[in-house]
Amino acid sequence: MSYLECFSRMEQTRGVYMKELLEKNIHEVIERWPAVQEILSRFEIGCVTCNLGTCKLRDVVEIHNLDPAQERVLFGEIAALVFPGQTVESPVLERKPVRAGAGQSLSPPVRALVEEHVYIKRVIAALPALCREFVPGNELSTSRLQQAIAFVQGYADKFHHAKEEDILFGLFETDSDVVATMRAEHETGRAHIRQAKLALEQGKRDDLTVQLTAWAELLLEHIRKEDEILFPWMDRQLSDRQIGELFSACLEAEQCFGTAPKEFEAFSMSLM
Ligand SMILES: [Fe+2]
Ligand SMILES: [Fe+2]
Repeated sequence: MSYLECFSRMEQTRGVYMKELLEKNIHEVIERWPAVQEILSRFEIGCVTCNLGTCKLRDVVEIHNLDPAQERVLFGEIAALVFPGQTVESPVLERKPVRAGAGQSLSPPVRALVEEHVYIKRVIAALPALCREFVPGNELSTSRLQQAIAFVQGYADKFHHAKEEDILFGLFETDSDVVATMRAEHETGRAHIRQAKLALEQGKRDDLTVQLTAWAELLLEHIRKEDEILFPWMDRQLSDRQIGELFSACLEAEQCFGTAPKEFEAFSMSLM
């Protein structure tokens, strides 16, 4: 084997090393090379959507959709850390072509989910004042909180989260770390709201405020992850056929709720 053939084979092997590293569990990589986390943070890649521990390094990078130049620099820094002193070829992550005519915008069914977040965020913004004004035994302040909790359970959860869980997430690997994390956050939110409802019934203002504040903080961060990272990523992964299926399934689900979603949206808009 000539020197050049030998060199070329070594280079190919190093390329494989980087590819193999990308297929490793993110938590294992960070445990072995803690500075990888700092490198990812500098590229604004937090492991926020993948905290159950089954994501691969590749998934964590791919979901943030860096531009190819940034991705090359990122992989270069990781390679320099993991394979010091070696020239390591970094692979280019495969990018799906943007759907014709879609530009960078979301498809209609995914955009509808993002628009529903706006109504949810309006109610979240009103909660501190509703809690402050709550006087146990006072009919008006109790009724306003009952309406807000009815919105959370009827709209944010039964209507909106059900579409995410039963339809959108179903189009992806149901055992994936990202989907499992989002489902787990929905469950945590449900528990807070059950506790808040109980506290309202019992007239326990402090407990009510604690539970609603915890729910609001959880949901705001959850919505931010969906709007900025998860939904754009999911939208890019879906084929035109899947978008069509998602659209029909969401429409069918929405029809089951009759006029209730529109009434909840009107309630949200009525809040200052
Ligand atoms: Fe969600
Ligand atoms: Fe959502």
